[in-house]
Amino acid sequence: MKGVIHVPPLASRPARLPFVLVNLAISADGKIATANRTVSSFGSPRDLAHLYALRATADAVMCGARTVRDEGVTLDTGGTRYRRLRLTHGLAEHHLRVIVSGSGSLDPALPIFRRLPMSCPMRAPGRQLVGRVPRPGGEGSWPLSSSKKTRPPPENPPPPVSPAPLIILTTERAGATRCARLAAVADAVLVCGVQEVNWPAALAHLRARWGIERLLCEGGGELNDALFRAGLVHELHLTICPLLLGGRQAPTLADGVGFPRLIDAAQFRLVRRRRVGDELFCVFRRRDPRG
Ligand SMILES: NC(=O)c1ccc[n+]([C@@H]2O[C@H](COP(=O)([O-])OP(=O)(O)OC[C@H]3O[C@@H](n4cnc5c(N)ncnc54)[C@H](OP(=O)(O)O)[C@@H]3O)[C@@H](O)[C@H]2O)c1
Repeated sequence: MKGVIHVPPLASRPARLPFVLVNLAISADGKIATANRTVSSFGSPRDLAHLYALRATADAVMCGARTVRDEGVTLDTGGTRYRRLRLTHGLAEHHLRVIVSGSGSLDPALPIFRRLPMSCPMRAPGRQLVGRVPRPGGEGSWPLSSSKKTRPPPENPPPPVSPAPLIILTTERAGATRCARLAAVADAVLVCGVQEVNWPAALAHLRARWGIERLLCEGGGELNDALFRAGLVHELHLTICPLLLGGRQAPTLADGVGFPRLIDAAQFRLVRRRRVGDELFCVFRRRDPRG
């Protein structure tokens, strides 16, 4: 079926997977939305600028199906200034967008599908390796923002590529009919796994076939949990906001199955933090399991 690719499980874990970052705004009690899910954006304009600037360092931005359905997100670049910022990083003008839906039940009328995507090469001329992607403004201007401190675009920036491609990660649960419906509105539908997405296989495919070296995940809690449990998150960017949402049913940073034992918990160390106004911007990096 055109546009639907069945990604086989891997025989062994590949050495080359994307560097995965998770970025979210959380309330002081760790919630990412209200219990009734009507409110999920509560960060300051500074936090929004940080989100766009972080997107501008990534090859792809990913989120879960419920976030797409609840919030109507489009995972855009954030506008011209951030697209310019991408070019200064040696990245393509648009990042690739990835939606995760094991069931494949996404409404093609959702805002994220509105702009008809076209296939485009992910690599702009002169694109640098992920490890060398310069951070905008360095430590001094962190949290990231596209303020005047960032470098201007080069004299002759690479020609813009086509609008952000869209990929759906799904499973065999979706079935042929849903996959075909999604393939009509996305650039690719990747069937990776039977019930749940097989993450090593999916990420290896994204890296090998789509050039994704740096993948930014923006939640929600269930998707984050799956990535944490798979041990695939390298960095966690949290904006701790000065409010308390409460509510047992309110989604949190990591929901889903979780870790049953302390010894299994995903371990991180705090590598950066900065207070701006009443918000705390934190970066945690995965602890090497070998210690
Ligand atoms: N404050 C923030 O920064 C922030 C950021 C993002 C989201 N949010 C909020 O968080 C809430 C959504 O979070 P959520 O945890 O309920 O949902 P979610 O993680 O956004 O999406 C869950 C859905 O994603 C798919 N999925 C996730 N992991 C999967 C896996 N391993 N394999 C297959 N499919 C998988 C499934 O889709 P199917 O059901 O289609 O199979 C699942 O139902 C919303 O209220 C949103 O507004 C807040």
